[in-house]
Amino acid sequence: MTGFIILSYFIVLLSLGLLDYGSNILLVEGLGVNWGTMASHELPPKTVVQLLLDNDIKKVKLFDANLSTMNALAGTDIEVMVAIPNDQLLAMNDVNRAKDWVRRNVTQYSFNGGVNIKYVAVGNEPFLTSYNDSFVSLTFPALRNIQNALNDAGVGSSIKATVPLNADVYFSPTSNSVPSAGQFRTDILDHMTQIVHFLHQNNAPFTINIYPFLSLYADEHFPVDFAFFDGVSQPIMDGNIQYTNVFDANFDTLVSSLKALGFGDMPILVGEVGWPTDGDRNANINLASRFYNGLLPRLAQNKGTPLRPGYIEVYLFGLIDEDAKSIAPGNFERHWGIFRYDGQPKFPMDFRGHNQKNKFLVRARNVQYFSKKWCALKSDADISDQQKLVDNINYACTYADCTALGYGSSCGGLDTNGNASYAFNAFFQVQNQDNRSCNFQGLAAITTQNISQGTCNFIIQMGTSSSWRLLPLSLALLMPSMLLLL
Ligand SMILES: *[C@@H]1O[C@H](CO)[C@@H](O)[C@H](O)[C@H]1NC(C)=O
Ligand SMILES: *[C@@H]1O[C@H](CO)[C@@H](O)[C@H](O)[C@H]1NC(C)=O
Ligand SMILES: *[C@@H]1O[C@H](CO)[C@@H](O)[C@H](O)[C@H]1NC(C)=O
Ligand SMILES: *[C@@H]1O[C@H](CO)[C@@H](O)[C@H](O)[C@H]1NC(C)=O
Ligand SMILES: *[C@@H]1O[C@H](CO)[C@@H](O)[C@H](O)[C@H]1NC(C)=O
Ligand SMILES: *[C@@H]1O[C@H](CO)[C@@H](O)[C@H](O)[C@H]1NC(C)=O
Repeated sequence: MTGFIILSYFIVLLSLGLLDYGSNILLVEGLGVNWGTMASHELPPKTVVQLLLDNDIKKVKLFDANLSTMNALAGTDIEVMVAIPNDQLLAMNDVNRAKDWVRRNVTQYSFNGGVNIKYVAVGNEPFLTSYNDSFVSLTFPALRNIQNALNDAGVGSSIKATVPLNADVYFSPTSNSVPSAGQFRTDILDHMTQIVHFLHQNNAPFTINIYPFLSLYADEHFPVDFAFFDGVSQPIMDGNIQYTNVFDANFDTLVSSLKALGFGDMPILVGEVGWPTDGDRNANINLASRFYNGLLPRLAQNKGTPLRPGYIEVYLFGLIDEDAKSIAPGNFERHWGIFRYDGQPKFPMDFRGHNQKNKFLVRARNVQYFSKKWCALKSDADISDQQKLVDNINYACTYADCTALGYGSSCGGLDTNGNASYAFNAFFQVQNQDNRSCNFQGLAAITTQNISQGTCNFIIQMGTSSSWRLLPLSLALLMPSMLLLL
């Protein structure tokens, strides 16, 4: 089956004249990105779609089925994974509501010039232990109802429902965690078994999110080099197989877990993989480019893993930074983008995995910014009352993104005054540079001087605001002292 898919893919590429011998364009075609939209100021969807097209990114995974996103994707050949958020899984346990969802969010776009939908993601990592089993029994019925609705609508052969799962759904019980001993978590084994059987019946892939970055935190003794792809001094030996990176080891633990259920050949899609660039001492441009410089060429060469050599369908996480994401997992959550908040590439990256200069990512076009105005701590501000300063910083950081200020982050070296200016500016920008939002009890003033320092960039926000995410201005204008009294 897999051979057949690869062969027919080859034929399609041949007929499209896309094969460029000597370069492994096959693989490049496979690489996708996750497009999340939890930002205070979003690039317009049409700008993002143009960014994808300009960078030859042919696959995108969404976290919903937002109408304006879908309209922007319509008419392109970009392959799309739409998604049902976890909070709608309960509703999808109802057959009719699942049918309605498919009608409104999938088949509505199935026309010439519509959206090239390939997958429906049912939930997002619903079995995470931090969800306390809230979604465990809701996931399989939702998956079944959605795929059945797709089948009934006559699109089931080309559009597959799948469940993006976190890599904590399986583990290796051996002391040295050898991948060949992989098995699904015992507490969810019945659910996983049902899901895997159903995916198999429908020729749908298993979707897994793999985060070598998070492995660094799962175990304090985790060897850092094992997160990357440049080799390690002590590989994990699994029989005669050597594992030199956690991506392969993790992926093959899944292959073994599937094999234990009798489905060792099930297609696997990597729904998320990536490395953040700020908000943590291990999240920076150097380590992110080290990670991608290892990952992308391997994917381009169709290396696969020891248990699954060959092509792997992969979606990078993520496309653009999201300054309004929850930071419960860590400050790095807002810095996963390969592009900054405004669609500028953070570092040179050749998506095709060849590290070829003329193929490096290009920036989004026609981005509108507010004018070059920053909000800073006044040079003559009376800061004798340190508590007042701290309260104002905390206030600003409650409503704006200050995750770059933490230890080891891009602005981690600022002193308290620098912290204050950073926080005040972040708030001023998120409030669309409304000059009433740069006061902070008389401590702050607007300046036209770029107050960025070293690695710490004091940003100018984009002029295109999505004001619904902003703090209502009336509330924003209650200055901290007043708010603290509430
Ligand atoms: C859809 O996206 C647009 C902009 O990208 C946003 O303004 C809108 O609120 C979103 N709709 C929903 C229902 O989330
Ligand atoms: C997707 O389906 C749900 C449920 O039917 C509906 O509420 C929602 O509006 C749909 N989304 C869009 C973008 O049409
Ligand atoms: C899960 O349970 C813990 C402890 O009981 C609680 O603190 C947390 O808020 C719960 N999380 C969810 C998503 O319900
Ligand atoms: C600056 O702010 C960060 C984040 O709030 C904090 O961890 C750090 O201690 C502050 N540094 C100074 C010098 O105030
Ligand atoms: C604030 O902006 C408004 C309009 O943009 C302007 O009329 C006003 O003078 C500004 N106020 C200050 C204190 O700069
Ligand atoms: C401000 O200065 C920083 C550091 O020199 C630079 O990277 C950034 O682009 C500048 N910002 C603007 C809006 O010009």
